[in-house]
Order: sequence, then structure tokens, then C-alpha cells
Amino acid sequence: MAESGITTSQNAAPPIVVDTESTENDSSYGDEISNYTASLTSSVLHYRQENGRSYHAYCDGRYLIPNDEEEKDRLDMIHEMMMTMTGRKLFLAPIGESPQRVIDLGTGTGIWAIEFADEFPAAEVIGNDLSPIQPTQVPPNLRFIVDDFEDEWLYENQKFDFIHARFLTCSVRDYGRLLEQCYKHAAPGGWVEFQDWDARVYSEDGTIKNTSIEQYYDTIIHAFEKAGYVACPGPRLEEWFRKAGFVDIHVVKYQIPMGTWPKDRHLKILGTWNLMEAETGFQAAAMAVLTRYEGWTEDEVNILVAKTKNDARNRDIHAFFYFYVVYGRKPE
Ligand SMILES: C[S@@+](CC[C@H](N)C(=O)[O-])C[C@H]1O[C@@H](n2cnc3c(N)ncnc32)[C@H](O)[C@@H]1O
Repeated sequence: MAESGITTSQNAAPPIVVDTESTENDSSYGDEISNYTASLTSSVLHYRQENGRSYHAYCDGRYLIPNDEEEKDRLDMIHEMMMTMTGRKLFLAPIGESPQRVIDLGTGTGIWAIEFADEFPAAEVIGNDLSPIQPTQVPPNLRFIVDDFEDEWLYENQKFDFIHARFLTCSVRDYGRLLEQCYKHAAPGGWVEFQDWDARVYSEDGTIKNTSIEQYYDTIIHAFEKAGYVACPGPRLEEWFRKAGFVDIHVVKYQIPMGTWPKDRHLKILGTWNLMEAETGFQAAAMAVLTRYEGWTEDEVNILVAKTKNDARNRDIHAFFYFYVVYGRKPE
């Protein structure tokens, strides 16, 4: 396998291809992608280094959560948590046996896109992201692109049969517009599925009241929203799908505990994954937004993070979250 090549564009924002194979013309959309892109540069790899973490370079500042090895491990843990949550289903939409063209928005490590491309070898799959952090050895029907999904989409040649987006909390500023772009670029009869958090923390018995875990989520949700991001998209997805014009909209709402406290075995496994990802996740989510936008010092963030971790491990605090899977169809 060849090293991945990173391309950047001459214009401000068009997507950049990360070529994961040396045989770049082995798919029908290879030409289309190369139309968007120009010379290869390494600028997308000049990651911002800050407070011991690294952040994406393409559209610097656009996304406030790191892209380093620690974060990649966390994203893969969360993938396993999501797969456990759904009973090992990558998606819930009834997309049929043979989707032809599929895109995963904000693909992260690409783990969802890789598993999808393996399961549907006849589909041509694209994963886009601000960070080229995906592996180089991937199924031949999968390509990764460096792109900002909130920018104008340039995937014009053909419409998508399935558009998937998972865990974009604190990433997106304008969901209304994003869902409109999904609608525009979906094939007639094509499906769009978003899976996302209500990032607020809940407890049925009041045990989160006045804890650091409550303070942590109140603080970062407020900071992300002040900075212009939607922090709790889950409960609002249905409304955005409807406004964009989708039909046959389905909403599935899950509970994800934080910690090992639930008695139910399935929920205990989910809570344990959540606790494991939070080991690095509390700091990953809080550091840039609080230091760049709220004037906190690195130490101040780390103190709140340490207290929050203690609460997450405390089996007397029965914290949980809601997670939404919403899918809808573009009319024929
Ligand atoms: C929390 S991660 C989720 C990754 C993946 N969807 C998953 O479920 O494993 C969010 C990802 O969205 C990417 N992202 C955030 N804003 C973006 C944007 N405007 N355009 C493209 N990717 C973006 C980030 O770089 C990050 O990899």
C-alpha cells in the first residue's frame, strides 16, 4: 500500500482527498474528487499544538476537540459503545441491500465508514473530516476526504443513497442548513441518518445535583453554545429533518449511563464504555472551548476535569445521558 497523499485546494475551502490507495482511479468517483482538489501539500497536517493536545489544521479553529492518538482511541471506544447500544447495527434506516453511493459526515477515525464499506462492498463510500486521521489501509470502495461539511458541498456528479452522521455534538453551528444540504444531495428515495447526543446529564434520583459532573456539563454546554455550536442536537434532530423536507422520519431514543452503577447488564456495559472514554474525554471536550473562549487556564480546566472524573467513578452518582438516532427519507 502507498503512503496516503494529502491534497489541498487552491480555493479557500474545497475538499481535499486523502488517497488511501495507490490505485486512485479504481473507482467511478475518483475523477470527481480529483476535480475538487489541486496540488498536494502537507498544510492539513500542520496540526495546532496546544495544552499538550493537537487540533486539526484545515480550517484551523473550526472544531474545538483534539485529533491526536488519545482522541482516536476515545472515538474508537465510543464506536464500540454505540455498536453495543444499537445491538451491533451500524445504522437503523431501511436502506436496502444495495446502496450505491454513501457518505459519512465528520468520519473521525473512519471506523464506521470502514465497517460500512466492508458490509456493502458494492457501495462507493466517502468519509469526510477536517482531520486526515483515518488509516491508509481501507476497503477499496472507501475514500476519505478532508472537507468542511458546513461549507457548500461539491459532491455534484451523483446523489447519495445514504448520508450518515454520528456524534457531531459541539461540531455543527447550523443544523438547519446542514440538513438542507443533505436533502439536496440525497437521491430521491435516499435515506439520511443522524445519531447524536443530548449532552445534558440527567439522574432519575437527583444524585447529580450539585456535583462536579453537573457543573462540568453545564459549563461546557454553555461555553460551546456561546461559541456558536449546537451542544445538544439529539432532541432537535427530528425538527430539522422535518423542516428540510424529509418524510418517514423515525426517532429512536437510547439511555447511556455514566459509570458502572446500573444493575442491568446491558446498561452496565454501556456505562463502563462511557466511563472509559471519559478518562480522556472530559479533558478533550473542555480544554479548547474553556481556554480559547472562556479565559480559563489549563490548570483550572484540569481541576474541574479531575473532580468530574471522580464523580463519574462514584457509584452513588447515577448519571446518564439520552442519545438519539433519527432517520428520514427524501421523497421520490
Ligand atoms: C466526535 S467526532 C465523531 C467521529 C465519527 N463520526 C464517529 O462517530 O466516530 C466528530 C468529528 O467531526 C469532525 N468535524 C467537526 N466539524 C467538522 C466539519 N465542519 N467538517 C468536517 N468534519 C468535522 C471532527 O474532526 C471529528 O473527527
